[in-house]
Parts: sequence; structure tokens; C-alpha cells
Amino acid sequence: MNITGIKGMNDILPGEIETWQFLEETARQVFRGYGFAEIRLPVVEKTELFCRSIGESTDIVEKEMYTFDDKSGHSLTLRPEGTAPVMRAFIEHKLHAGDPVSKLYYIGPMFRYERPQKGRYRQFYQIGAEVIGVDDPKIDVQVLAMLMHYLNAAGIENVELQINSLGCPECRPGYRRALIDFLEARLDPLCSDCRRRYQSNPLRVLDCKVPGCKEATAQAPSVLEHLCAGCEDHFATVRRHLETLNLPHTVNPRMVRGLDYYTRTTFEMVTNRLGSQNAVAAGGRYDGLVKSLGGPELPGIGFAMGLERLVLMKGAGGTVAPAPELFFAGIGEAASDQAFLLMSALQKSGIRAEMDFLGKSLKAQMRRANKLGAARVLIIGEEELAKGSAQLKDMADGSQQEIRLDTALPTLLSLLRS
Ligand code: HAM
Repeated sequence: MNITGIKGMNDILPGEIETWQFLEETARQVFRGYGFAEIRLPVVEKTELFCRSIGESTDIVEKEMYTFDDKSGHSLTLRPEGTAPVMRAFIEHKLHAGDPVSKLYYIGPMFRYERPQKGRYRQFYQIGAEVIGVDDPKIDVQVLAMLMHYLNAAGIENVELQINSLGCPECRPGYRRALIDFLEARLDPLCSDCRRRYQSNPLRVLDCKVPGCKEATAQAPSVLEHLCAGCEDHFATVRRHLETLNLPHTVNPRMVRGLDYYTRTTFEMVTNRLGSQNAVAAGGRYDGLVKSLGGPELPGIGFAMGLERLVLMKGAGGTVAPAPELFFAGIGEAASDQAFLLMSALQKSGIRAEMDFLGKSLKAQMRRANKLGAARVLIIGEEELAKGSAQLKDMADGSQQEIRLDTALPTLLSLLRS
């Protein structure tokens, strides 16, 4: 039996990868403009990192992590997200010592054992960005402006920005209490997960996708009505700056996000074009995270976009490898050797050149040159070779010109570079 790939983990093939490369390159370009530097981290981390940051009673930690013991018995986990690893590295390498503000971005695979469906996979890629060290609500808006700039530059349309505030350690307990009181009176219709964890993590109930839970919590108290003065002011200032920058948004007080580290501003970029997996990007503030992982008391904010979802929005259909500028066609060993020499020299000069390696007939070689979309073909026939020349054919208009083989390299270089 053939060995197949793993369910929910996809191969990205030529013809698809071009869209990925475009999306990644655009991110590098746009993020650089906002002063972000790339950080590249391992795909495995100590399990404890995710338990402590994402939260023990989240779906990710409870059910979705790829966790295993290595040969020394250490519990390791394939990273389900990028923020906690970035904070771990930030603290470990004392990045705060060099500059009080760190702006980092990352591109790479994440792993969650979720039920695969369109837009939801077990290995998926994120492009993420994090700013550490700034309390000012302007940075929240700067991060959102960069995200929108990126989506715009990448040609991703039909997305809506939704924002919320989840409060801080001062006001969250009051909201938790109000929510627990509300849920306690409505336990019956809740799913078994929500009944189990409404005490330890009541916010998760608002995020539950089970219809019964959604219905039962439709009238749940709003987090925005429980914010302390500091959080209320922060949120109002974020909204004011969003308006000044003309960044349209809606407030969604039910958006609680699936990770526990968030404080204050949270947001999602949602679309109606991806079915139930409607978040193209998501993020928020995590002011207590760096400290809780053993670092200095520094605030943070960031987001991550799902690359597969961006690709679905853009529609695949890039071009496969770019067409050769010159294809060498020839018959016999001597012609093939000559073609190989010239082709190698041209490739070294950055010219896209190709030749036949399969000993095909001249007709078959011309067919392949056509199929690859070669602009020109250098035909090295037996007779020509004996005369020390070859025919250069322009595939667009069919015209041919004879060129001398002993000066073929400079001739081809000047022709192809003009
Ligand atoms: P998240 O909402 O879990 O947040 O994921 C961010 C984005 O990753 C989602 O909006 C979605 O586009 C994509 N995504 C998540 N799970 C999957 C999946 N199974 N298949 C395909 N795409 C997926 C985080 O991960 C936070 N670390 C974001 C953040 C950064 N917050 C602050 N900084």
C-alpha cells in the first residue's frame, strides 16, 4: 500500500506555492516598513510553555496539542501558536535589554489536533507579528493599521475588523463573577465541556460553537459593561484612533478569543467567504504574559493570520516555474555536451535556460520547449554542429537566425539581456 500524508497536513505543490510566496514576501515587505524584524523559532517547545500561557482550560491545551515525551522523558509539544514561543525567546535572549520596544514577526507552521475541514487543518501556517513594551493604545491601532495595510497590499478583500476589550486583572474578576452567576442559572442547555469548565474559565463558554451554548448565552452580561476606568479609557482611545486613521471596525463584545493570555484589546478580521472558519487573522493585547513566563513586567500586543485562509481568499492559480528564456534542442552526444556547457554558463549569469536530458527526438524537444513556454530555442543540429554554428529560433514569430558556436555565449548573453 502507498504511504500517504497525514490527515489535516497538506502538501503545497508547485502551482499553489507561488501564491504562498507572494503572501509571505508581501508580509516581509509591509512589516519591514513598520520596523518589524523576523524571528525564527523551533517548532517544538517544552509543553509547560503552552500550558502556562494559553491556559490549562482552553480547547488548545485540553484537546488539541501534539504532545509527546522525547527519548529522555521530557514532555514536548509541537507549537500550536507563535506568541508564547516568541515571548519565551524574548525573555531567554533578553531582547528587552537592547531596545525598550521590540517588534517581531514570524512565518511558520503551527500544529493543532482539530477536526480538519475547509480552512482548518492540523498543520497550518501563520504569519504573526508582536510588539512588546508599549502600553499606549496608539500601538494597538498601529498594529491594526499594519494588518489592514498588509491585507490590502495582498489583495485580500471582504474582511471586517471586529474589536473588543477583555479588561485587566483589576476588572476581569468582577466580570467573571457576573458571568458565572449568569451561567449557573442556565447550566442545562450547555454542552458537557462548558458545564465542566464554566467555573474555572467562564469566558470559554461565550466562545463555544455548540448551538445550545450560543443560544443559552445570547443575553450574557457584556464584558464592556464591566471594564474598569483604565480599560474603558484604553478601549475608547483605541476606537478614537481607529476613526482618525479611517479604519472601519465593529465592536463585538462576545469575542473572547480561544487563548487565556489576552487582556484589554482583542480583535479578529473576519470574512463571510470561508464558511465557518471565518477568522482570517486574530490577536490582541497580552499585558501579563511576559511577566507570567518569568520575564520583566512588559505589555505586549500582536496578531497572527492563517496563511491557508489567505490563500483560499486569494484563490490559488499562480504560474508554475517561470518559462525558460532559452531552450537548447539538439541531437547526439556532441550537441548535448555543447548545449550543456552553454546552458550552465547562461544559468550562472542568471538566465533561465533549459535543455533535454532524456535523449528525445528533435520534434519531442521542440514540443517540450513549446509546452514550457520557452521564448527562444537554440537548435544544435548535426549539420550545423559540423559547421560550428546553430539556429536560434524565436518561438513567438518563428524567425530563425544563425549564430556561431565559438562566440555563442557572448552573442546569447547580449541577445537575452537586451
Ligand atoms: P488564533 O486565533 O488561535 O490566535 O489563530 C490565529 C489565526 O490562525 C486564526 O485567525 C486563523 O486564521 C489561523 N488558524 C488557527 N487555527 C487554524 C487551523 N487549525 N487551521 C488553519 N488556520 C488556523 C493565535 O494563534 C494567537 N497566537 C494570535 C496572536 C498573536 N495574538 C497575539 N499575538
